[in-house]
Amino acid sequence: MMRRALEMLTVAALVMAVGGDVAGARQHKGDLWAVLVAGSSYWMNYRHQADVCHAYQILHQHGVPDDHIIVMMTDDIAYNPENPDPGVIINRPDGPNVYEGVPKDYTGGSVTPETFLRVLRGDAEGLRGVGSGKVVRSGPDDRIFVNLVDHGAPGIFGFPNSFLKATELSETILDMHRNGKFGQMVLYVEACESGSMFSNLLPDDLGVYAVSASSPHQPSYACYMDEHLHTFLGDVFSIKWMEDTDREDIRRESLKKQFQIVRKEVTSSTVMHWGEIRLDRQHLSQFLGGEKVPSGVKSQKRGDDLCLSSATPSYDVPVAVLEARIRTSSSPQETEALKQQLDNLHQNRTFVSAVMASLVVHVTDANLDMVDKVMHNSHSITRWPCYTAAVDAFDAGCFRLAENLYALRVLQPVVNLCEHGYTAEEFARAVEAVCTHDPVTGMA
Ligand SMILES: *[C@@H]1O[C@H](CO)[C@@H](O)[C@H](O)[C@H]1NC(C)=O
Repeated sequence: MMRRALEMLTVAALVMAVGGDVAGARQHKGDLWAVLVAGSSYWMNYRHQADVCHAYQILHQHGVPDDHIIVMMTDDIAYNPENPDPGVIINRPDGPNVYEGVPKDYTGGSVTPETFLRVLRGDAEGLRGVGSGKVVRSGPDDRIFVNLVDHGAPGIFGFPNSFLKATELSETILDMHRNGKFGQMVLYVEACESGSMFSNLLPDDLGVYAVSASSPHQPSYACYMDEHLHTFLGDVFSIKWMEDTDREDIRRESLKKQFQIVRKEVTSSTVMHWGEIRLDRQHLSQFLGGEKVPSGVKSQKRGDDLCLSSATPSYDVPVAVLEARIRTSSSPQETEALKQQLDNLHQNRTFVSAVMASLVVHVTDANLDMVDKVMHNSHSITRWPCYTAAVDAFDAGCFRLAENLYALRVLQPVVNLCEHGYTAEEFARAVEAVCTHDPVTGMA
């Protein structure tokens, strides 16, 4: 009897000792869900949908079933008239077709912040008749991976026709936590000023860990300019985390290790992490899928960094594309037309900046000292109600942000006005006085 019990104890001790190594690879109980969102449309923004398609391929290869992956993207790239290879989207030069098999859960007009938040919350009722109707049907033991890729601005993540406010995202996450909708959540966000989606907002005790492509005050960068396709194929942060994932055995690499690698490799912006940092001890497979990928599928090459050498601030993509077209133009007439377009683009940008300057002059009653501060400081957002209401007024009265991407670049003064104690009402009055121009689109 005694001897047998001892034997069993020894076996148990052995299992536990070995378990030290096995524990990390062990699947938690609960399911893995993934929500992948590309928030833009148009050929110029090819890269956002390419990134998200690539993210889908990663989850798919690692065994996450399609009924646990929800993809939101306009889906205007694969068959865009400008695509010389219909049905093909690539995410690096000569890369594989990442469009193959991507589920079309929410496309076109259904790619909205409201849909996204309903998908996350698991509000199937609210999405009846919209897209595939697929939502995250998660419980308290489940893990959720969220990947957002698009244009951004302080406290804002873009969608094709509107935008998601950082406060809406954080309120949704808090609600989900209260309602037992996840055990752990990991968010990877690629957008300009993406750190501002979490800074001063994401608590460190919810089981939520987020990585942003940039700090709250930096743009994110596009890369892999393709002179044949006349657009960029990816974004630096997205490319770096996904190419790392493609190379490594993610059942052995931790979130922390990936963060360190990516933070080092992305030299164009400061990759940052937020929320409950200690979640980063887990293996990537907990959030990207645990199945081993046959080594033939993996790309091993680290080679020349074509991504970093072509890195371009996201907002300068339209400029870079026009300049490349001018370089490769085949006729003087075409060159002339392209140069004209580039001139217009710069004029448009000057106009948008001038409107913001006028608004600031108006709000501050032309207090030049204050104007200078508001135009040049880079405060973080703490007065969220003022800032979001002021942005709504700017969006409605001056430039629709979704249709005038350059307008996203001039919002820092709005943050600063609020932080200096001016109110959203004062800003809204300035909008009425200053923004008397006809509605415009295409301020790229
Ligand atoms: C400049 O703005 C006008 C609208 O005023 C728009 O139609 C045009 O496409 C813009 N051009 C560029 C190159 O951004």
